[in-house]
Amino acid sequence: MKIAIMGAMVEEVDPFLSAGEHEPLLRYFSKHEDLEYAGNTYHLARYKDLEIVLAYSKIGKVYSALTAATMLEHFGCEMLLFTGVAGAVDPELKIGDLVAATKLCQHDLDITAFGHPHGYVPEGKIYIEADRELLHIAKEVADEKGIDLKGGIIATGDQFIADPERKEWIARTFDADAIEMEGASVAVVCDAMKVPFFVLRAISDAADMDAAFDFDEFLKHSSQVSSSFIMAMLEKINNSVSR
Ligand code: ADE
Repeated sequence: MKIAIMGAMVEEVDPFLSAGEHEPLLRYFSKHEDLEYAGNTYHLARYKDLEIVLAYSKIGKVYSALTAATMLEHFGCEMLLFTGVAGAVDPELKIGDLVAATKLCQHDLDITAFGHPHGYVPEGKIYIEADRELLHIAKEVADEKGIDLKGGIIATGDQFIADPERKEWIARTFDADAIEMEGASVAVVCDAMKVPFFVLRAISDAADMDAAFDFDEFLKHSSQVSSSFIMAMLEKINNSVSR
């Protein structure tokens, strides 16, 4: 089975690739090679019985949709796992906590002038649901590791939110638990192509006045938390395909 692993920023996928204070997760992979395609670098590797295509897209909905579509269409990935960080909307979520998207929406998609609800365009849908089987695998991993994994609604938009009012509006309008800038666009691509996907985010900030500072401070640590969890899921996925 061929699996896409993607993040938006180099820091979000770095734990798989480079040796910082932690060993790179990719040390578990063999036959690692890099390919350039459509302005981006794709790392091709093998992890046990799985073929892996790993990349970061750059920030935002357009770049992430391009990378996701490339991974599925050009590289033939049959499943996509997204790893990265998010701003907390749910006040219970603290820095480093993990959120698995049960469904995702675009908070900045707005044709309300034509009487449509926020996040909706004709022939689209407000929420895209993540794959249930992958959510189930994530829950098993969390239970085994004693990790408190929250399933929640992730709202995506081409804005870094550092404003309590905008955050409250997103919370009210979409019942969102966390906000970021790529999940829903990746979800749209995977949903359209009928490829199962999973979006995991570790909290880096509270999308408030301190968000930019906290983001810089916790990006690396929260990226490591998210990547390690994805690695544990990969182990479980490998065990289920090679059985
Ligand atoms: N990703 C991490 N924190 C974020 C925030 N506050 N707004 C948008 N995307 C984010």
